[in-house]
Order: sequence, then C-alpha cells, then structure tokens
Amino acid sequence: MATTFKTRLGLLAATVGSAVGLGNVWRFPAETHANGGAAFLIVYIACMLLLGIPAMIAEFVLGRGGKSDAINVFGKLTPRSPYRMAGIMPILSSFLILAFYMVVAGWTFEYLIQSLSGNLFDIKTSGASELETSFHYKMEQYVATVTPPLLNLYIVLIINFLIIWAGVQKGIERLSNIMMPLLFALMLLFCVVSLSLPGAVAGLDFLFRPDFSKITPAVVVNALGQAFFSLSLGMGVLITYSAYYPQNTNLVKTAYTVSGLDLLVSLMMGIIIFPAAASFNMTDANLRGTTLIFVTLPEIFYKMTGSQLWSTLFFLLLLIAAITSIVSICEVPVAWIQERYKKSRLTACTIVTLPLIVLCSLCSLSFSALSDVHILGMTIFEFCDTVSSNILLPTLSIIVCLYIGWKLPKSFFYKQITNDNTINGKMASAIFFVIKYLAPPLICIILICSFIEI
Ligand code: PHE
Repeated sequence: MATTFKTRLGLLAATVGSAVGLGNVWRFPAETHANGGAAFLIVYIACMLLLGIPAMIAEFVLGRGGKSDAINVFGKLTPRSPYRMAGIMPILSSFLILAFYMVVAGWTFEYLIQSLSGNLFDIKTSGASELETSFHYKMEQYVATVTPPLLNLYIVLIINFLIIWAGVQKGIERLSNIMMPLLFALMLLFCVVSLSLPGAVAGLDFLFRPDFSKITPAVVVNALGQAFFSLSLGMGVLITYSAYYPQNTNLVKTAYTVSGLDLLVSLMMGIIIFPAAASFNMTDANLRGTTLIFVTLPEIFYKMTGSQLWSTLFFLLLLIAAITSIVSICEVPVAWIQERYKKSRLTACTIVTLPLIVLCSLCSLSFSALSDVHILGMTIFEFCDTVSSNILLPTLSIIVCLYIGWKLPKSFFYKQITNDNTINGKMASAIFFVIKYLAPPLICIILICSFIEI
C-alpha cells in the first residue's frame, strides 16, 4: 500500500476520529445507565486497559507490518494458512455495523436540522411531565415513520461517499484534522454547562460511586462489547489505518493516546448527561437505550437559555463524531476492493455503497414497516448491533491476538514495536505476553457468556 497519512497529528486525528463516535456519545451513556452506573464504568476501564489496549497494539502491528488491507493481510503474510479465512470477518462486521450506525447518524442529521430551524422546540406544554412525553413522542413518531428517516439516511450515505471518494489524505485526514479539535472544544463547553446545574452532584454520584453488587456477568459482557466497539477494535479499521502509518510512528504510544482520548470523551459524555438528567428529574424510562440522547438532551436544552444554539451545537458534534467513524469503517472494504481487485477509488466506493443502501434501509425500517420482523428475538436494528459488537468484534480480536502471538514469528511483533530497533521497547514483552496468553482466553470466556445471554 503506497498511501500514508501525511502528518503525525493527522494520523492521530483520524484514528481518534474512528474511535470517538456514536459509541461514546450515544451508546456509552445508555450502556452505563442500563448496567448500573459506576460499577459498569470500572469494569469498562478494566476491559480497556487489560484487553482493549493490547488488542489495539496487536492490530497496529499487523496492519503496519503487513502493509495491506484488513481482509488480505492474513493471506498476504501466510498464504497457505487457514488464518487467511479470517479476512471474511471484517467484511461481515463492517456492513453490519454500518447498517445500524448510519441509521443513527441519519437521526442525528434530522435533529441537527430541526435544531437549526427551531422546530425541535416547537412544542406546547405546561408541566414538566408533559415536556418529557412530548420529546419522547416526537422521537418515537419520527423513527416510526417510513420516509423521513430514510431520506436522512441517504443524505448521510452521500456525505460518506464523497469523503471516502476524496481519499485517505484529502478526505479522511483533512476532515479529522478539522473536526476532532472542534469536537473536543464543544464537549468541554457542555461539561462546564452541565456541571453548573443543580443536580451535578447526584449525577456524578451515579457515574462515579460504584455499587459492586451490580457487577454481574451480563455487565462484564456488555462492558467488553462497549470497550471493543468504542476503540474500533476487531473490525479491521485499525489494521487498515495502521497500514497507512509511516514507519517511524510509535505504535504503543499511539495506542495509549487513542484509548486515553476515547475514554476521555466517554467520561465527558457521562459528565454531560447524568448531572443534566439528575437536574431535570428525568425518569428511568426516559433514559433508556436508543433514544436516550434524542429525548433527554433536547429536554435539557429546552430548559436552558439559548436552547436552539446548544442543541444545534450538540447535534453537530454528534454528526461529526459519527461521520469520522463511518468513513473509517467504510475504508475497510473500500481499501480491500481497491487493492485486491485493482479498482479505482470511485468504483470501490460505489461497490461498497450499493449493498449498504439496502442494509441500512432495512435497519431503518425495523422501527416502522418492519418492526414485526425479529431475528433471534431482536429487531433487525438490534440484531446488527448485538451480533457485531458482542460477537464479531471480540471474535476477530481473538484471531488477531492468536495470529500475532502464535502464528507470526516473535520478531515480527518486536520489529514493529521498536520500529526496527530505533526506539525503546520496554513494554514490548509484557504486551506480547498479554496478546499471546491472556487476551485470547479472556475474550473467549466473555464471548461464550454473551452467547449464553442471547
Ligand atoms: N468506535 C466507533 C464509535 O465509538 C465505532 C466503530 C466501531 C468504528 C468499529 C469503527 C469500527 O462510535
């Protein structure tokens, strides 16, 4: 692969851009809420440190060492090994994730437009409970219609198409360089606003004071799923991106920086949402799952001065976060088609976008016309989310760890970690130990638990 990111900052921005996304802003608060607050947070951080970061380093080593896309890399390095079959996984998971991710990005686009126009706050209410119901109703009504969510979805698909088509440096890197600093600045601003609200202490209490009795196997499975999802692990994104890293990039440092910034954004989101929710007496029903940020936050903005401005800024932030992640996921199959079948960027983008239109539409319709269709008891949307985050991502991570730990020569790993003996690799042995011996069985146990749960 000849392409590389142009600058160190650019490669960091792009990788953080992939990691930071709906996973942090939309999924993290919902998961934290559903799994008992601080108890979940502790397990989540443990999963990230113990398994997430080593798994990320393993992907970086494979990507930069193999200098190939995520699907071909196994076959390129070990042509006759059964490991080459692992290439199927990134194709599957990228489409499944994009299927539901783009739908949520479409909702975000709708809320951005409604915030800009002021329509979002155009509701007539008298009491607090009525307000709650109004925003809930608005969201439920919106997702249950057929055409508007589809239209927004297609807009997101077009935006994504244009960025991917523009290429790695001119599209992805340039976009991330502008968007990521903007995102951090906006989040900081929201933290300050939320912490100045009267319910700040109660909200922080929920987020940071653990009740260990709440840690169950289900909490651990969900925490790992969330950690992998949030770090963009097990999907081939990090393998693909690190193939674009120059030879002098310090992989370990990059993994710590990316994970640290990703955790920071998730924590900031918790700091934004829980104090605000506590301040405005949100009920449990209002804090649940998919609709959390589309119901709770508008309600909070409604009660603040300058509702329209805050709301516009927030949904803009969310859209930025979503798009920088979407392009990273799309880059996985696009890079593969370009490289393997020697297609132009435009053709590769088109080949990837066409099936996406169908899959995403199905996910979107699973809230309306197809709401009765269930796969293993889940709607199409829930199925794509659960299967990809809780099953496919951990599985590919196990394969990558086994591959680096047991199949490739040890020198392959050390060469990448020490940049061919030009930098200090003090942590290398410890990281290698985790990748070889600890990560595969631990992720496997958690994976089996997730099967039992389903
Ligand atoms: N990490 C992204 C997020 O938190 C989602 C993602 C998953 C991106 C897997 C790439 C690969 O939103």
